[in-house]
Amino acid sequence: MVKMIKEKSAPGAPIKGMIPLSIPEIRGNEWVYVKECLDTGWVSSVGSYVDRFEAVVAKYVGARHAVACASGTAALHTALLVAGIGPGDEVILPALTFAAPAFAVRYTGAWPVFVDIDPNYWQIDIGRIEEFLVGECRRVRGKLINTRTKRTVKAILPVHLLGHPVDMDAVMALARKFGLVVIEDAAESIGAEYKGRKVGSHADMACFSFNGNKIVTCGGGGMLTTGNKYFAERARFLTTQAKEDPVEYIHHEVGYNYRMTNVQAAIGLAQMERLDEFVGRKRNFASVYASRLKDIPGIGLAREASWARATCWLYTILVDKKIFRMSSRDLMRGLAAAGIQSRPLWHPLHSLKAFKGSYTASARVAERVYDQALSVPSSTGMTSQEQDRVIRAICDVRASKRS
Ligand SMILES: Cc1ncc(COP(=O)(O)O)c(C=O)c1O
Repeated sequence: MVKMIKEKSAPGAPIKGMIPLSIPEIRGNEWVYVKECLDTGWVSSVGSYVDRFEAVVAKYVGARHAVACASGTAALHTALLVAGIGPGDEVILPALTFAAPAFAVRYTGAWPVFVDIDPNYWQIDIGRIEEFLVGECRRVRGKLINTRTKRTVKAILPVHLLGHPVDMDAVMALARKFGLVVIEDAAESIGAEYKGRKVGSHADMACFSFNGNKIVTCGGGGMLTTGNKYFAERARFLTTQAKEDPVEYIHHEVGYNYRMTNVQAAIGLAQMERLDEFVGRKRNFASVYASRLKDIPGIGLAREASWARATCWLYTILVDKKIFRMSSRDLMRGLAAAGIQSRPLWHPLHSLKAFKGSYTASARVAERVYDQALSVPSSTGMTSQEQDRVIRAICDVRASKRS
């Protein structure tokens, strides 16, 4: 039986019989591949499934190398270490994202610089990155210094939010102009395409997540992809405890136990076999949501850019409190009462205590989107009857407030 994702104490958390927000579908070769791991005893981080999963993901995203990691967060931390990010450095991130990429920046001792998202696609606003780089940074002895914090700006970490790609050509052009490393956070977006090419091969490195609510899951897991052989070797070295000599256990550097296990990879490989089908279903759900919600006053819809083929990982609407006459949180509670799980997006990171001391370049749109956004059920296994129930419940909750 597939278990629901539990979010204790959150209003709208799933309970039995509820239509969940996003749960995995495990109905393919997962059982066969995991059984083989168990039967043969290859359950740890060495095993053929790890190699096969890496090869399949690398080929799928069009990257030369892939390094399987214990989680998406571990992949991000590793990518930052490989890029040479450390104390006193700064990394540019969107103000609206799940916190993991910003945590990974802090693990290295570096600091996030939070930049606003654009109002159309909710991805990091490249015009705002440029404003920050041009207006607030200065080159001093070869280093790009943030004049406010005196720290060195070293990298951009664009996050392909909610399955929609960032405008990567524009990010890469800026990065090359200012000499910055780019690490794509594609945790939510495996299968998404930017200008006809899958995300995960447009930057210096990219990171994916395979946790329980992602479009492809390993239970937990991540992947670092890159076209750079040295980066891949370095990532492999750091994620396997930085052993200079595996027999004598010689370590010149601090290493990490960040490798994926064979059992995780076995699940992931089976999931990858169904990825295109999963993306197709999510895109279908998105077009049904869009066509049936578009005329409801006060509901704003996610848009897809001309360069994008989004995976629509979590379908998210905006609720304009004045016009809809209720907030996104009221709607969430109303849906929960009707047996439907929904969830706001992440609290903008710049105002969280965990990131005190970080620099915020801009965040106005992020705050508005956070206030209005509500993600609605998007599991690949959702039936059309269930989706119909969600859409009718949105209308009913609104009508009940008016009567
Ligand atoms: C944008 C983003 N980055 C990173 C992560 C971290 O991945 P993981 O949970 O596998 O560590 C996630 C999801 O969890 C995410 O949504």
